[in-house]
Amino acid sequence: MSAPISATASAAAPAQAGRRQILVTSALPYANGQIHIGHMVEYIQTDIWVRALRMHGHEVYYVGADDTHGTPVMLRAEKEGITPKALIDRVWTEHKRDFDSFGISFDNYYSTDAEENRILCEKIYGSLKEAGFIDARDIEQAYDPVKEMFLPDRFIKGECPKCGAKDQYGDNCEVCGSTYLPTELINPYSVVSGATPIKKTSTHYFFRLSDPRCEDFLRTWVSGLAQPEATNKMREWLGDKGDAKLADWDISRDAPYFGFEIPGAPGKYFYVWVDAPVGYYASFKKLADERGIDFDAWVAPDSKAEQYHFIGKDILYFHTLFWPAMLQFSGHRTPTNVFAHGFLTVDGAKMSKSRGTFITAQSVIDTGINPEWLRYYFAAKLNNTMEDIDLNLEDFQARVNSDLVGKYVNIASRAAGFLIKRFDGRVQDSAMHHPLVTQLRTAMPNLAALFESREYGRALRTTMELADAVNHYVDAAKPWDQAKDPANSVALHETCSVSLEAFRLLSLALKPVLPKLIESVEAFLGIAPLVWADAAKPLSSEQPINAYKHLTTRVDPLQIQALLAANRESLQPGQEGAAAASSAAQATKKAKSKEPEAEGVIAIDDFAKIDLRIAKIVDCKAVEGSDKLLQLTLDVGEDNTRNVFSGIKAAYQPQDLIGKLTVMVANLAPRKMKFGLSEGMVLAASAADEKAEPGLYILEPHSGAKPGMRVK
Ligand code: 2FM
Ligand code: ZN
Repeated sequence: MSAPISATASAAAPAQAGRRQILVTSALPYANGQIHIGHMVEYIQTDIWVRALRMHGHEVYYVGADDTHGTPVMLRAEKEGITPKALIDRVWTEHKRDFDSFGISFDNYYSTDAEENRILCEKIYGSLKEAGFIDARDIEQAYDPVKEMFLPDRFIKGECPKCGAKDQYGDNCEVCGSTYLPTELINPYSVVSGATPIKKTSTHYFFRLSDPRCEDFLRTWVSGLAQPEATNKMREWLGDKGDAKLADWDISRDAPYFGFEIPGAPGKYFYVWVDAPVGYYASFKKLADERGIDFDAWVAPDSKAEQYHFIGKDILYFHTLFWPAMLQFSGHRTPTNVFAHGFLTVDGAKMSKSRGTFITAQSVIDTGINPEWLRYYFAAKLNNTMEDIDLNLEDFQARVNSDLVGKYVNIASRAAGFLIKRFDGRVQDSAMHHPLVTQLRTAMPNLAALFESREYGRALRTTMELADAVNHYVDAAKPWDQAKDPANSVALHETCSVSLEAFRLLSLALKPVLPKLIESVEAFLGIAPLVWADAAKPLSSEQPINAYKHLTTRVDPLQIQALLAANRESLQPGQEGAAAASSAAQATKKAKSKEPEAEGVIAIDDFAKIDLRIAKIVDCKAVEGSDKLLQLTLDVGEDNTRNVFSGIKAAYQPQDLIGKLTVMVANLAPRKMKFGLSEGMVLAASAADEKAEPGLYILEPHSGAKPGMRVK
């Protein structure tokens, strides 16, 4: 057995303790969906940690991969009419694009559907089998007789046995909240084919977690976990000594299944949760082969390297029971620690597609929101516990604008001009020992330690307190007054030099969070990429700074509106939350409803994508500076009115439209125009040849229609 895990390596190991070897992972996202900001919280949390550790000069590798196997990917590919391989290749490209946009600095981003992973899975399975940890057993499971496949619980729906609500999942009711077994559902049906599931027996392979060797090992291993909440959960799962509560783990699935076939067991595949964590190692193996790293030494039981997994609290079980046990009994080192975080809410509620708060990474980029603003905001909210964090969109805007623009960047913009104009861009060397600078410099090791202990919120609060102190110093010194009298030149030089050195130190503290912004700062100051040791290496008069260029902009409220609008989907009541999981059912329904498509003819499903609604024109104005547009304020039965610019000025006087009903396209992507954001489109008729037959006629419903009604 390997030694128990070291108690929190996270308790800030100083750089002089030597160069550490550190392998870090984030949970692997499924290859059947987009990356959203809920995912990003974890990648940002991990990336900040990795960057902070690299800044000590440690040998750090951060690896990730897409989690590609399993039934949902298989069915999704089928629905799209492509092979699973084509699907996972496409999704990989999208995921990689999103991670790159958010500055997630993977050393390797891979796929669990890789040869390295197959080899590692087979090796680990073989070792576990040899050591007596694998059992074969016959079990009875739900089976779809039409699709000829076993059905995971989430692919069975039916009526809730408690309240009778229709279309509920096999484990819990979204209407009344009760939990039950899939067998208790009334009138169950397969979401894949609609058929009534039958019971069928098949042989499954189990990892014997109930083996006393597992229990003994896990009891020791748990004592090294960094988070008390995780230790408590583990103790709950493990139960009292001698009274083992761990159940064996079903690690096989029957064909058809997208995954790796189990050696010596035709038609049986490794369950996705077996090859997913092994995927961490497969990604690292690929990197190791490319860079000449000794993979075997890093993963050996006596490895000197450290290994950390960042995860969401919902998958703790897999990472603190199965994964360490699999590693331990297949002759590998075990994780040094597992760091779990909480969930993300937006404006205090679960992310929601109908409210537009199920925010994809891509939509952030598309609406011109700087991903570093989100990195900053999430970091400001993160600590080392499993508490949930909230993205409050108003607070986001206020915090980014006040901290990053008002407090931090402001320091550089105020000092740089004078330094360039009056002092050839060179700092005053004696100012590098000013007490304020010393105060900041001595705070740096503490800030580095806060990052390492994942207390990012505290690190950023301290950093902003230091920024406040610098701004007070500048306000008191009044460089703008000093500049008026040449007799104050030395004092002015000192003020600007202290400010800029303080700015450099603040930049050092912010670097793990804002890597891209700090790259621009390094270029502006003419310095090498900052590392923690640079706290003691102040700016020098020998190296003039470069002309100040705008470093960041403020968050524009219009961008937030556009973000929500871009993510808003119109769902029927009750569809919320079920949307993703019911994709297979939708596929079946779609396939059934599909009609032959002639050229220029669309299917009913395509038409259904357009959300047409009755809108009341509650206000209408001419747009200053435009001879074509009218600005309409529309009531479409939502909490807020919509703002729409429409090219109908030639045909209507604004006052004639106020109070009228019309029809609008409510789910058109919002468009940022010169005059503001346009959140939809009103429908108007015109002749095919508008020149020959001018005239524009907006649509008006018969009386009785109300704002918000759907037009179908
Ligand atoms: O929960 C999930 O999204 C999984 N795809 C995480 C896998 S993490 C690891 F085990 F690979
Ligand atoms: Zn119910």
